[in-house]
Amino acid sequence: MFRIFNSLTINNFPIMKKICLLITFLTLCVCISAQTVNLPAPKKDASMTLYQALQQRASVRDFSEKAISDQILSDLLWAAVGINRPDGRLTAPTAMNSQEIRLYVCRTDGAYEYIAKDNSLVKVSDKDLRADVAGFQTGVANAPLFLVITADLNRYSRKSDHSKVMGAVDVGYVSQNICLACEALGLSTVPRATMNAEVLTKELKIVEDQLLLINHPVGYKK
Ligand SMILES: Cc1cc2nc3c(=O)[nH]c(=O)nc-3n(C[C@H](O)[C@H](O)[C@H](O)COP(=O)(O)O)c2cc1C
Repeated sequence: MFRIFNSLTINNFPIMKKICLLITFLTLCVCISAQTVNLPAPKKDASMTLYQALQQRASVRDFSEKAISDQILSDLLWAAVGINRPDGRLTAPTAMNSQEIRLYVCRTDGAYEYIAKDNSLVKVSDKDLRADVAGFQTGVANAPLFLVITADLNRYSRKSDHSKVMGAVDVGYVSQNICLACEALGLSTVPRATMNAEVLTKELKIVEDQLLLINHPVGYKK
């Protein structure tokens, strides 16, 4: 018995070591992939015209709990602040092309940051933060999805007194893209400043000079 153990641990050490390394590597891969959701490619298509979307846009605060598919989510995120040109520029304009918008998706399985260049979601919290995004407006808390829009002023090449204004303006463009894309995709939303900023700052790992400004509950109208 001792001999078998001895031969495995001593004589076959390099093989055992390789197996251990492989197991560690595979475990790491599983952990990393659980933290990243690769979204389907956005369709960038809707039968509704821009003018029909403008005609229909209205704030909705009463949502059914019907889930939103990853395809629809991908279409919505691309419209919000996806890449629309080969040079990496976005569907929403940003001051000096600073691309300071950081967009978060909060849903039942946790909170994620949208990474436009990879069309993916990277997990930032395992918690369902929807009630915290809803804040005192508990009536919207059952929306299947919340988008939280921030402006990270650290991405400006130079910060000035004017930076906060530019960040807020840029968040507004993304918010309007979300409003119109929701109409085109058969979804409803409302732009809101209300939210539990203290909890979200901690859970979404918001950094200094990253402005937490607007959120959108998104869902199908009840
Ligand atoms: C910057 C901004 C902040 C808002 N904050 C809230 C909010 O905290 N809660 C809410 O229910 N609606 C909020 N709204 C939605 C407005 O109340 C709504 O747009 C307005 O009543 C006009 O209605 P409409 O969007 O249907 O045209 C906000 C809108 C904007 C543009």
